[in-house]
Amino acid sequence: RKDQAIAAIDAADDLDSLEALRVAALGKQGWISLLLKTLGQMTPEERQSQAPAIQAARGEIADAIAARKAALENAELERRLASETLDLSLPAPEAPRGSVHPVSQVMDELAEIFADLGFSVATGPEIEDDWHNFTALNMAEAHPARAMHDTFYFPDRDAEERQMLLRTHTSPVQIRSMVAQGAPIRIIAPGRVYRSDSDATHTPMFHQIEGLVIDRDIHLGHLKWTLETFLKAFFERDDIVLRLRPSYFPFTEPSVEVDVGWQDVSANGIRRRVLGGDGDAPGHGWMELLGSGMVNRRVLEFAGLDPDEWQGFAFGVGVDRLAMLKYGMDDLRAFFDGDVRWLAHYGFSA
Ligand code: PHE
Repeated sequence: RKDQAIAAIDAADDLDSLEALRVAALGKQGWISLLLKTLGQMTPEERQSQAPAIQAARGEIADAIAARKAALENAELERRLASETLDLSLPAPEAPRGSVHPVSQVMDELAEIFADLGFSVATGPEIEDDWHNFTALNMAEAHPARAMHDTFYFPDRDAEERQMLLRTHTSPVQIRSMVAQGAPIRIIAPGRVYRSDSDATHTPMFHQIEGLVIDRDIHLGHLKWTLETFLKAFFERDDIVLRLRPSYFPFTEPSVEVDVGWQDVSANGIRRRVLGGDGDAPGHGWMELLGSGMVNRRVLEFAGLDPDEWQGFAFGVGVDRLAMLKYGMDDLRAFFDGDVRWLAHYGFSA
């Protein structure tokens, strides 16, 4: 019986059947255990002759079980080692690294260009109030231009409180700067702005950079020179040509929309549109780039400045737009997907 049991143990091919064999022999109701119990009813002589054999059988079976268990566990380990190989001599896979975002990059470039022209960087809140975003910019309660801004309003609280909104442009920073520091002023104000608008060329959040100069005897020539100087530096081209078109903004008078000349160039059989050159030349054209103008007297008054003493100009540019033009990106929405492969494609890998 013992030899049979040991043969079965040696043949057990998993830990569960091994355990069943252990219970059958050594368990409370196992046959070895039952044999041991019979010793109590024997005479001392019988016990002396039987006991050593039973104890020996129990020891042999326990040893066989332990040996088989170790062998099965070892085989399992071998199997896992074979299937889960890890080659420590291989180089580790490269983890994708982030980089500066084109929008941040452009804002940094602009801050540097304007720093050279004596401008400092100003900021204002993205959650703005109606007065700074509209009223003080000469857009009264019923002004039709307000409707054009697709404003995200916060829910009305009681009528006494200021109506809060997500700023629709960086122009409220003009007001905050004038109120806070008075004149003269030379600032740019980069930041996020929000409009309820979304398609291939509009995202509900986008970026603008505002420029404001307030001083004595400031005129449109200063505006034109400043814009020309900044655009030549930004696009790294000397042949940038601007066209100033009469326009309308409630906060500037006169207002001018600024177009920049482009041309198609062929290289290696690929035609590309690049900025530069006179837009009126054959094969050239104009692209609308930004809004600007002389600060409206009413705006100076709202901000507490005397318009007979101080004049100024202001401009507002889309930063995302500038980045697309400079780096040849064509889908605005990709700017805000956070895909490092897109960044790398345009040379923004770290
Ligand atoms: N705030 C205007 C806009 O968002 C741009 C602008 C700024 C125009 C300053 C004139 C002067 O469209």
